[in-house]
Amino acid sequence: MDRITKAARLMIVSDLDHTMVDHHDPEDMSLLRFNALWESNYRHDSLLIFSTGRSPTLYKELRKEKPMLTPDITIMSVGTEITYGDAMVPDEGWVEFLNQKWDRNIVAEETSKFSELKLQAETEQRPHKVSFYVDKAKAQTVTKQLSECLEKRGLDVKIIYSGGMDLDILPQGAGKGQALAYLLKKFKDEGKTPVNTLVCGDSGNDAELFSIPEVYGVMVNNAQEELLQWHAENAKGNPNIIHAKERCAAGIIEAVGHFNLGPNTSPRDVADFMECKAENVNPGHEVVKFYLFYERWRRGEIDNCEAYLASLKACCDPSAVVVFPSGVEKTLHECIHAMKTCHGDQKGKKFRVWVDRVLSTPIGSSTYLVKFDKWELSGEERSCRVTTVKIDAKGSNATDGFTWVNVQQKWLEGFEKDESTSVF
Ligand code: GLC
Ligand code: MG
Repeated sequence: MDRITKAARLMIVSDLDHTMVDHHDPEDMSLLRFNALWESNYRHDSLLIFSTGRSPTLYKELRKEKPMLTPDITIMSVGTEITYGDAMVPDEGWVEFLNQKWDRNIVAEETSKFSELKLQAETEQRPHKVSFYVDKAKAQTVTKQLSECLEKRGLDVKIIYSGGMDLDILPQGAGKGQALAYLLKKFKDEGKTPVNTLVCGDSGNDAELFSIPEVYGVMVNNAQEELLQWHAENAKGNPNIIHAKERCAAGIIEAVGHFNLGPNTSPRDVADFMECKAENVNPGHEVVKFYLFYERWRRGEIDNCEAYLASLKACCDPSAVVVFPSGVEKTLHECIHAMKTCHGDQKGKKFRVWVDRVLSTPIGSSTYLVKFDKWELSGEERSCRVTTVKIDAKGSNATDGFTWVNVQQKWLEGFEKDESTSVF
């Protein structure tokens, strides 16, 4: 988080299941499109927050299944747990705040009297969240009776119904909206209120996000009935909230464009990204397009033409070296030359390459060290090389692009693979 020294240009606060992540898209195309847009245009000066109903356990599982980026802040368990950074450091202040007028044991005792409530898995029961399944038809009645019971016992709780099946009981001060309000207040106190905030969701537990003042909101196209109904009753004429035409992450990209929040063309939607537009010239964009080219080359989605490799070579210092995870060294020109042998070798296969956590640090007037995780999915197997690239800006303000000066790679622990299967 210290990465961002000024107010974030854009802060995206997004739900995960059926919002950022489309469980009906086995190729994860819209997620990968969002990732490329974020890392190429926003990562360096904006904030990404995931806000999910999942517990830390299930959140980590989802990260293993889907090509998700690493957010700056993670809000889990329906706004009851806030953590910062890759290390997921918990916000202790939030925990203390939630302890007010909350007694988990009383909630457990009272809910056990309702036969309609079926307890969710143990991992989803959290210090400030008790969760059940309940039939759609019974949800309203149960919610009403339950809140009366708990009020009588002196508790101030919030009951949220989501996805037409999940019922969560939280302290009144908790929830995705309250957690966001808490973070916005923190940013304000530091003089770093984000220039724009976009909230994104699809189900009941996201509704609160849309009632935070001064945020833009997108209900993705596939939003649940309960969220659309909440919107119809509470926020109808609000021009800052849209119901997207597109599903999931594609709906988020659509909203970025609709509200004019910044660039909204994902590099994945650009056929010939070697022609890069001046507005996109930044180190993040440079690495995104490089690895995207590599993915398309191996998938055989671009022609095996010498001109492409020549233009790639033209972006490299002739003496530039790649140090592989094993310590083996080759020149970048040699590596690019070697690409000839793997053109189209992943055609028709499950093969994707994406970058995460792109961080560029200037180390001279026109030189940057760009550090990132380079992920490769091949079939069901994932590997990740933590990569550091030194690049030089060509022309004033990199108007003529960048020159790659050297590349260093290390395996991310737990994601090693046979080095020879990949050129980069
Ligand atoms: C996630 C959580 C679950 C919760 C639901 C709705 O699926 O795992 O516990 O009930 O979100 O908030
Ligand atoms: Mg959802």
